[in-house]
Amino acid sequence: MSLRAPAPETGAPPSGPAPLLSVEEVTRHFTVSGDRIDVLHDCTFQVRRGEVVAIVGQSGSGKSTLLNILGLLDKPSGGAYTFDGVDTTALGEGRRSWLRGEGIGFVFQQFHLLERRTALANVAVPLVIAGVPLLTRRARARELLESVGLGHRLHSEPHQLSGGEQQRVALARALSRDPGLVLADEPTGALDAASSTMIMDQLLEQARIRDSAVVVVTHDPKVAARADRVVELVEGRTR
Ligand SMILES: Nc1ncnc2c1ncn2[C@@H]1O[C@H](COP(=O)(O)OP(=O)(O)OP(=O)(O)O)[C@@H](O)[C@H]1O
Ligand SMILES: [Mg+2]
Repeated sequence: MSLRAPAPETGAPPSGPAPLLSVEEVTRHFTVSGDRIDVLHDCTFQVRRGEVVAIVGQSGSGKSTLLNILGLLDKPSGGAYTFDGVDTTALGEGRRSWLRGEGIGFVFQQFHLLERRTALANVAVPLVIAGVPLLTRRARARELLESVGLGHRLHSEPHQLSGGEQQRVALARALSRDPGLVLADEPTGALDAASSTMIMDQLLEQARIRDSAVVVVTHDPKVAARADRVVELVEGRTR
């Protein structure tokens, strides 16, 4: 299948089906030693299936905080986050965790790979949780690792891999259950230009061919340029 022509780089989402995720006036503050820190002030945007949205902004502007909310790992202090038609703020932890497992793949800024497990085992973790049989999950994990250029590192553990290789294992793991929403926090941060292009190819394919919504936090203008839309975070406010 050929890739869709990219839409304009910025601006409102195209009209069409209901968005997979909708963030409305979301705020998030933390309290540290009695002091309140306001991180997100007024974040509003939507992402549809098949769409790739890049979130850009200075270090400390709240990008990872926002991504944690989108990934149901954190809750907003105010405002509404609707995922797949469900108002997530009203959900209990059990339901949030189920939605996360079923529908969301997360590439963390710090990778969060299991240390004493091989690349193959790491990528297979979500498939174990989903009850996928051993041979099927091995085949799927191998295929994913090959697709990110790591077919020769299947049996290496994280400490035997470079930062960029670990990052690619984390991406393969995030895609293993073919999630409707892929969240990637600086997925090309540790990569050279060629690997970075490969990762973006994977994310675009996930959106274009698998019809997932993809939200990617990036500092890299080349990555942002390949997204359909760019949401800029400036001091905790979306633009
Ligand atoms: N759990 C927390 N408790 C207190 N403050 C926090 C917490 N999490 C984040 N912050 C603060 O929120 C601000 C935004 O952090 P965040 O990690 O979202 O930034 P970022 O945009 O992802 O930055 P970077 O580009 O460096 O990764 C920072 O000033 C950080 O200190
Ligand atoms: Mg961050």
